[in-house]
Amino acid sequence: MHAQELLHKMTLEEKAAFCSGRDFWHTKAIERLGIPSVMMCDGPHGLRKQEGEGDHLGINVSIETVCYPSASALASSFDRTVMTRLGEALGYECQAENVAMLLGPGLNIKRSPLCGRNFEYFSEDPYLSGQMGAAYVKALQSKGIAACAKHFACNNQETRRMSGSSQVDERTLHEIYLPAFEAVVKDGKTRSIMCAYNAVNDTYCAENKMLLTDILRELWGFDGFVVTDWGAVKDRAGGVASGLDLEMPGNPDALGEEIIKAIQDGTLSEEALDKAVLNLLNFVLSSWEQRKPDTKIDREACRQLARKLSGECAVLMKNENILPLNTEESVTFIGEFAETPRYQGAGSSHINVPHSVSALEAAEGRSVLYARGYDAHSKQTDPHLLSEAVNAAKKVDAAVIFAGLPDAFESEGADREHLRLPDNQNELIAAVAAVNPRTVVVLHGGAPVELPWLDQVPALLCMYLGGEQVGSAAVDLLYGSVNPSGHLAETWPLRLEDNPSYLNFPGEDGIVTYAEGIYVGYRYYDKKKIAVNFPFGHGLSYTEFSYSNLRIDKDKITDQESVTVHVDVTNVGRITGKAVAQLYVRDVKSTVRRPVRELRAFDKISLQPGETKTLHFTLDKRSFAYYEPKVHDFFVESGEFVIEIGKNCRDICLSQSVTVEGTTQIPFTVTRTSTIGQLMKHPKGASFIQKMTGSSKGPSDEEQAAAMGEGSEKIMQSMMFEMPLGALVSYGRMTAPQLDALIASLNEQPNDTLSEADKQQ
Ligand code: BGC
Repeated sequence: MHAQELLHKMTLEEKAAFCSGRDFWHTKAIERLGIPSVMMCDGPHGLRKQEGEGDHLGINVSIETVCYPSASALASSFDRTVMTRLGEALGYECQAENVAMLLGPGLNIKRSPLCGRNFEYFSEDPYLSGQMGAAYVKALQSKGIAACAKHFACNNQETRRMSGSSQVDERTLHEIYLPAFEAVVKDGKTRSIMCAYNAVNDTYCAENKMLLTDILRELWGFDGFVVTDWGAVKDRAGGVASGLDLEMPGNPDALGEEIIKAIQDGTLSEEALDKAVLNLLNFVLSSWEQRKPDTKIDREACRQLARKLSGECAVLMKNENILPLNTEESVTFIGEFAETPRYQGAGSSHINVPHSVSALEAAEGRSVLYARGYDAHSKQTDPHLLSEAVNAAKKVDAAVIFAGLPDAFESEGADREHLRLPDNQNELIAAVAAVNPRTVVVLHGGAPVELPWLDQVPALLCMYLGGEQVGSAAVDLLYGSVNPSGHLAETWPLRLEDNPSYLNFPGEDGIVTYAEGIYVGYRYYDKKKIAVNFPFGHGLSYTEFSYSNLRIDKDKITDQESVTVHVDVTNVGRITGKAVAQLYVRDVKSTVRRPVRELRAFDKISLQPGETKTLHFTLDKRSFAYYEPKVHDFFVESGEFVIEIGKNCRDICLSQSVTVEGTTQIPFTVTRTSTIGQLMKHPKGASFIQKMTGSSKGPSDEEQAAAMGEGSEKIMQSMMFEMPLGALVSYGRMTAPQLDALIASLNEQPNDTLSEADKQQ
């Protein structure tokens, strides 16, 4: 039966109850009408299907399955096809397990490297996050499984995650924290959005009309359904009124009394409830129709995929002629993570893996020795383990230390306290590097750490949380059967104190002010010219790429048009490898604050030695725009923009300018506090001011110089430009009625706008 027909047949009680889940993971069935119950499960980098008792913390056991790399690793692939392959694999698995929706991807921006859940999020950059998210959503949904993009919005920390409020200005919200969600709605067509626990600007997301209706549905055209994060409801009826459709989790006794009461006392319209029911019915019915219970999963193929994806995601951060290792050389693997790797994060995304592959296991058959080096459950150095490792390192051609953040250091539900590795690991790395100059560090973890020993080690490979096959992938990369191609989706700062959110993270008493505004990640480090360990976009390969022949098909466009950018990439090294071309846009001159450059396009391609391929990128209004709160929209300020191709945000190889003309203007109303400087740029105001100053009997240049010193003309001009119109009355230049008449006539102008250049005046 059609959703609309079913809605008409449902009683008020049925409708109200339907909008809360049956249990931890299911929607409610209404047998009388043949409405089935469907299941949703956690992801996003594997299927966490709990068949027994449910929980949202990853505590109770779920089915055994394959664990893929987590989001911070996936984003480092800079590869949409990685997301497509993962999304499709998970889509098949959900079909085989009769799961209708997978709870992911996580799209929150990495505001601070301390957020305990950063391993589940993609990037500090909204464009990259949105591109990776949209590719995943499309692939998952192509198999008939709904995606559920989360956590909408501004859930950028774990401290007070269920009750705090993120205070964000309008521009920052639209430029930094919303675009990834916008991309999965508009481009990915996600069928569901999970609203966050926290509030945005004091209104909880589960009842935030601005987010759930004004932006999500009206601005972006979302036509799916909104589910709460598990237990996020504060005001049940207020939620329905604001655009919330499903409350999770639920229980069979949740009958929606608060909703019914609100409808009966007139504080909630039944129409609002009907909308929610319809959104949910559409999802339930279409999922039911798209079931493919006969789907079979080839687990071995999934494991191979996990290994391949892990290899695509890893980032070679440093390599001074040491990697790849030679099969002939003697090597010692050092560190507990070589034996028991850390490959996924703790909490609701935790996957039950029957067997994960360690690097030691993957290196079987090679001349590799092992020393445990440190106890992963302790921060203290064990002198015995340390000296054993140092002695082992002395005897071999190369030492490979597997280090990283232990589980206790980062997880859902708690933020990190600092950016350091455990002390025992830092001491071990320094001690081993002191006896063996060919020391390689392999890092596991979901987020950046400080690297106090970086200058002492010639090579550093970051696996992030690479999934259950991370050991195999690490060995593939170390010995060169796979050429590293990942690039950092986040800046690795020298120290925590350099991070832009440092003074305002995690806030006080549940209130966190995003005072750094749009300056998140590289947008801040580049603007402040702060030295970092590794910049956004950085990643090495065992081959070299060169970029040439940057062409832009037009040199001038309006913001209603687009430009196509072409660039050639050549593999100038000796082995096949994958290059990531990053396109940044820089606004040459702007009257509002803007980052130095912003990522607006990227692509990853495989090239054989000597091979050249041409990449094509299309840039449109959004590539040049910033969000202008005065018009509540993205806005292009006319002028010159530079298109840059880089290997990372600090290594720009090619650049070329394009002129973009904005076609909209910012309305400007003249008032008594408008300044003379602002008026000078007003079409009619300028001639008035000129007339006025021309007739002025002010002091001569010589008199001015004598009174105020050299440069006085400029000083006088600035002083005048800063003067508000009201002062003309105070200084006797005109009467109050004359001024009011002038203001009225200026505001009558058909074209009563100022050029963009005036906004900051
Ligand atoms: C998490 C969500 C998760 C849900 C269900 C919540 O605590 O924030 O990401 O999908 O639980 O497990």
